[in-house]
Amino acid sequence: MSDAMSGTAQIGVTGLAVMGRNLARNLARHGHTVAVHNRTGARTKALVEEFGKEGDFVPAGTPREFVAALERPRRLVVMVKAGEATDAVVGEFAPLLEPGDIVVDGGNAHFSDTRRREEALRERGVHFVGAGVSGGEEGALHGPSIMPGGSDEAYAALGPLLEDIAAKAHDGAPCTAHIGPDGAGHFVKMVHNGIEYADMQLIAEAYDMLRAVAGYAPARAAEVFRTWNTGRLDSYLVGITAEVLAHTDAATGRPFVDAVADAAEQKGTGRWTVQTALDLGVPVSGIAEAVFARSLSGHTGLREAATGLPGPHRPPLGERDAAHFADQVEQALYASKITSYAQGWNMMRAASEEYGWNIDLGTVAAVWRGGCIIRAAFLDRVRAAYDADPALPTLLADAEFAGETGAAQEAWRAVVATAVRYGVPVPGLSAALASYDALRADRLPAALTQAQRDYFGAHAYRRTDRPGVYHTLWGQDRSEVRTDG
Ligand code: 6PG
Repeated sequence: MSDAMSGTAQIGVTGLAVMGRNLARNLARHGHTVAVHNRTGARTKALVEEFGKEGDFVPAGTPREFVAALERPRRLVVMVKAGEATDAVVGEFAPLLEPGDIVVDGGNAHFSDTRRREEALRERGVHFVGAGVSGGEEGALHGPSIMPGGSDEAYAALGPLLEDIAAKAHDGAPCTAHIGPDGAGHFVKMVHNGIEYADMQLIAEAYDMLRAVAGYAPARAAEVFRTWNTGRLDSYLVGITAEVLAHTDAATGRPFVDAVADAAEQKGTGRWTVQTALDLGVPVSGIAEAVFARSLSGHTGLREAATGLPGPHRPPLGERDAAHFADQVEQALYASKITSYAQGWNMMRAASEEYGWNIDLGTVAAVWRGGCIIRAAFLDRVRAAYDADPALPTLLADAEFAGETGAAQEAWRAVVATAVRYGVPVPGLSAALASYDALRADRLPAALTQAQRDYFGAHAYRRTDRPGVYHTLWGQDRSEVRTDG
């Protein structure tokens, strides 16, 4: 252990709850001297007592000591609860910092807060790096996926440390990269979480269908997910689904999934994704349905009031049909996954243009290949699609993905239709299919919507046969006038 006032620590972590503590340990295990600080000193002491042998920690009792322990330019990682706590900590440290120092916020901050904080610190010459960190406690310790935003200069000083501690993809590449200026990193982390919600919802619906239609008990469904996990759906979330479904509750002896209350909670990042998508005007129906499905599940009052409303009662399929149906569910799940990932990527492209972030969309896929919750074999192919064509308007237009969704579409329709006949709610699978059908349609009924808007509000419309903006005099002789000069 080094002396707190020597200024030798390469990096510091303040906020030593489990995520902060594990990140600090990860840094120390990679040979970096890490200053550690927490508002209440007991946590700092506990970390050094329990894990001091893992590396070189410099415990600091006060913000001043913490700042003094860091070599310059200082690199400080703030790991506190997103929101007011972050403002409080940044406000406390800012006066102690000097131009060139770098403050990293590793929490799940809203990207607009990150933009505000970055701007405020930039005025003092201090770099603020909003870094999305995914992978939970285990990831923080053994290798998370890290999505840092901020200046090039900050990344130059910080990147090598992040690359050391980040997860490594199967090809050995670190799962981190400079995402873009100011809020870009936290934005991308937010979209990661939105996609995480969509993935989880689609998996939940697939499980529900296997159970209600194929008649598979959880242990049998676990086998199906385990098999899927060896194919194109190979991913962390599908893998843990198999484990959860195979687990038996010790207290009741029932499948664990039946012992868990069916009301899903959310901390809010999925909701932020949808709110932001609405502002950007990007349709992310898969993510939105996932957020709403969680909300609905937790609405006890609504659910109680509606329990017992009529619905179909159909017996599960026989064994042979069930196996065929399970295969169709795999196809529906995969095609829906492509659709919701496409929506997430569309959103990143829109924000990148809106904020001038210049996000490399292939790099985002590369950074998510390891460490994060949505890590999946599939992401290699998303990266390849954007590397091949950085201007790709949507993943659905990539030749390979288009081939796969096209090949899956019959099964996808069959699954959604079966869900409707069985009365099993599949908002994610059906929204994905609707999005696919809407995007591929030659004509949409939006033409009628436009005509109606013109009828009641003189909102005008464009025509298919000639340029210009027009209004029909609905209340008069229904003649048409041109309104754009
Ligand atoms: C991650 C996770 C992590 C966390 C979220 C989701 O990337 O490591 O996304 O950020 O699990 O907080 O939690 P909710 O489901 O409560 O929104």
